[in-house]
Amino acid sequence: MSRSAHPAGPRHADVLPEGHYTAPADDLNALDPKVWAHTVGRDADGVVTAGGIAVTQLAEEYGTPAYILDEADFRDRARAWRTAFGTDADVFYAGKAFLSRAVVRWLDEEGLNLDVCSGGELATALSAGMPAERIAFHGNNKSPEEIERAVRAGVGRIVLDSFQEIVRVAHIAESLGKRQPVQIRITVGVEAHTHEFIATAHEDQKFGIPLAGGQAAEAVRRALQLDGLDVIGIHSHIGSQIFDMSGFEVAAHRVVGLLKDVRDEHGVELAEIDLGGGLGIAYTSDDDPREPHEIAKALSEIVTRECEGARLRTPRISVEPGRAIVGPTAFTLYEVGTVKPLEGLRTYVSVDGGMSDNIRTALYDAEYSVALASRTSDAEPMLVRVVGKHCESGDIVVKDAFLPGDLAPGDLIAVPATGAYCRSMASNYNHAMRPPVVAVRDGAARVIVRRETEEDLLRLDVG
Ligand code: LLP
Repeated sequence: MSRSAHPAGPRHADVLPEGHYTAPADDLNALDPKVWAHTVGRDADGVVTAGGIAVTQLAEEYGTPAYILDEADFRDRARAWRTAFGTDADVFYAGKAFLSRAVVRWLDEEGLNLDVCSGGELATALSAGMPAERIAFHGNNKSPEEIERAVRAGVGRIVLDSFQEIVRVAHIAESLGKRQPVQIRITVGVEAHTHEFIATAHEDQKFGIPLAGGQAAEAVRRALQLDGLDVIGIHSHIGSQIFDMSGFEVAAHRVVGLLKDVRDEHGVELAEIDLGGGLGIAYTSDDDPREPHEIAKALSEIVTRECEGARLRTPRISVEPGRAIVGPTAFTLYEVGTVKPLEGLRTYVSVDGGMSDNIRTALYDAEYSVALASRTSDAEPMLVRVVGKHCESGDIVVKDAFLPGDLAPGDLIAVPATGAYCRSMASNYNHAMRPPVVAVRDGAARVIVRRETEEDLLRLDVG
């Protein structure tokens, strides 16, 4: 294909408007393995394939927009985390990133545990047969009904988030004649270098019990006195999309400090510490995430060193990665609708989805990349903003990116690294119907979460 001219829109770095786009890749047809699932590539005709299936075929069969999830990649990443942490540690996949019954079964088969944070996630986990003892139940405002369900089911741990909850869970467990294993979630006062909305270890926010002022120590003191609770450890989650391990280092130091205080005061060495999730992934080629084995090594070294210093037995470590497992496994496939060049600015590319299937760009100013998926092109790169079809100017999927200048309505484009927090945060805004999740593997595709239909929409509208 020859390099074709495009009617309007800047194409060269020297005429670009201000923004934080990355420079166009040398080859817009290339798919950076950092941001795409392992099995994604192009076939002989230049069409993007995933799990051995062309996106043109997927679009034809399942429609667009659709989340295309690479099952082999998911399993590989889950296994890599499991293997990296070995038998002395536990990996709890954070279901909030994306949960479906198929995913629960894959996790079960790959030997991971599961973190759920609502009655709905707990119901999904139990209905897919995840053994209750491998489930951790989180949340800052679990209802009594949710707690009762979790205790009855026999979940492996409930992570207590407040003084009131300590009493509430103890009371419910006792009334059911049970002793519930619990961890106490503390805030260690670390400022994670991430977006304010996804940082969770500073003190002025809703999660956990502050270490400051002896509050966390008081929580342990109270919990240890209650017959309905078996206090197994301390939990800390510092935030999300973090690349720098120093926050974990400070968190581990402070958590171990609490374990030491508990030992000194009560003569009890708590057996577990959970350092939460939050490990970053590559959304664009500019991000450089760490591998699970590096993270496992770093965390285990930090905790061992801290415990040696405090003369404590090294507790069993657990972690809760969500994004780092599911994020890179999926991309969103869209069909291009309107292509609108704005003279001297950029070209707006409208797709058939938007903020209802990916709220992250609007909410966190998240960055994504995008590729033309139904063909290759040698046309000059043009600066684009990929936008949705919603009635809102902030309805942006990819803020600044380059696509070939001959992009046209009907082309398929794909946004990688949308496996985490896109389907799980999807909405029906403007009565959009939430897209399906299609799992691909070894040349076969199957729907694991179906597309919503008008019937689904109207069924809820009972007025
Ligand atoms: N553990 C706890 C206690 C958490 O609160 C979270 C995330 C995780 C583990 C998993 O974090 P991950 O490894 O997936 O980063 N909606 C935001 C992220 C919110 C995360 C909430 N908690 C986003 O789209 O970036």
